[in-house]
Amino acid sequence: MSKEATKFQKKAMGMMYRGTEIFKPVNTGRIDEHVSAVREWIANIFFYTKNGTTIMIDAGYSYDRLKEKMSWLGIDPSDIRHILITHQDTDHVGAVERDSGGIFKDAVLYLSEEENRYMTGEVRRKVCFGWYPLPMVHTDNRKVLLKHGQILDIDGIRIECLLVPGHTWGHMVYLIDNEYLFTGDTIWFGADGGYSFISGLAENNNTAVHSLERLEKTLRARKVFPKVITGHTGWSQDPDFVFAHRDRVISPFMKKPHDPTAPYDGYDESDDTKEKAETVLIPEKKFIQDDAQFRNKARQLLKSKEHIRDTIRKYFSLETAENIWNRTEDILTEILEKYKDIPEGHRFHAENFIFPAAAAGIALKEVTDPENTYRIINEAAAVNCEKMHRSLEKMMKVPGMADVFVKAWDPVSRKMFGKDAGFENRFYEKKKGEYRMDILACPYQKYLKELGCGELGTIFCENDERTYGNLPHICFERTQTLASGGDCCDFCVRTVK
Ligand SMILES: [Fe+2]
Repeated sequence: MSKEATKFQKKAMGMMYRGTEIFKPVNTGRIDEHVSAVREWIANIFFYTKNGTTIMIDAGYSYDRLKEKMSWLGIDPSDIRHILITHQDTDHVGAVERDSGGIFKDAVLYLSEEENRYMTGEVRRKVCFGWYPLPMVHTDNRKVLLKHGQILDIDGIRIECLLVPGHTWGHMVYLIDNEYLFTGDTIWFGADGGYSFISGLAENNNTAVHSLERLEKTLRARKVFPKVITGHTGWSQDPDFVFAHRDRVISPFMKKPHDPTAPYDGYDESDDTKEKAETVLIPEKKFIQDDAQFRNKARQLLKSKEHIRDTIRKYFSLETAENIWNRTEDILTEILEKYKDIPEGHRFHAENFIFPAAAAGIALKEVTDPENTYRIINEAAAVNCEKMHRSLEKMMKVPGMADVFVKAWDPVSRKMFGKDAGFENRFYEKKKGEYRMDILACPYQKYLKELGCGELGTIFCENDERTYGNLPHICFERTQTLASGGDCCDFCVRTVK
């Protein structure tokens, strides 16, 4: 089952979590002289090496490149005799499941008695708040079942086994030589510190939070501050960072500080290379200061605004153009900080379109007059819209697409241009082949005006004409817009035979 489950997870989770900054695996490489990691998409397997013995912590997915990536670290799978299993989920036991190819067939698995009940079928593993049962895990490896507090000695390596139920009922963390704590899926590191692991994947979130509380108290009481190593979000040795929000559970949908260390798509492994694995140490996770967060976010947002930068370059010397662009980044950073508490629904339009345009507009107005500023932003917008227009033009030539396009306006408008997104609308009764809607208030007007760039509003109105006007089989009409002084923006889109 593991191969199937692996395939399913890669596909479903790849789509679900793209851009959410939820999974932040470390790339294959070393944390220090004792600990190394292999990345398997969004998950990590770890190795602890001392006195010639290497213990593996978790067994990842059923992942084709494990042997190859282990070779980057100089570890031969046949040398692995002991595997500590934090819990039996597919992304932690894949390589020791029955259908995985058996590269660790001679290794002993260590797991808690409680966790083993999933493997015997006494208990069924469920996620998504109990409604989604996961496939049962089968392994032929020899197992050693552990109790809470048990201490193992493997070739002089001291391993203390601590039960932390919550994510699964028998989740174990392993404190090795009092210096490393392998925590599997109990802690999730954000830009502002650790949280209890992802809500929808836990058996019981209250239990998970209590387990974390107990773990923190145990470590602090003993004054033991190990490197805390997580299954999906890297490592940290700062206990204040590790347990910063241990009474809160992370949800993929909650508002959390932007984390520039998170990959956009955890399934894209293009930056996980042999060369880096051999030369770069895996950095420790630390608090990212607020202003750095806004700066990083501004940089990321401006990556998709190269068309504005290119247009600025056409009108100024290279040096002046770069100065304007640097100012744009500074101003956008300030705007993001100023508007950090805007309603969640406004964020899409504000952060992706309104604020970057306003920042560029303000930066331009510092060196040129408002007319020239308008001309440059308008020209940049036109370049971008033409691209979109060309792809729509191709699509509308496909028979039946024009009908689909007009029908889509209703759900798309309600979601993307509705009340939650900061708009006020008047919707009209649906007619076959025609869609009408008025916008009575719009966040573009509101925020641009507040930022002293109200005049840029008409550019966004023109963008609609540029994108949707003159499409085959489609008539896009608007007789007035708010930005040009009208009472509303009256949208009408219909199919034309
Ligand atoms: Fe996991």
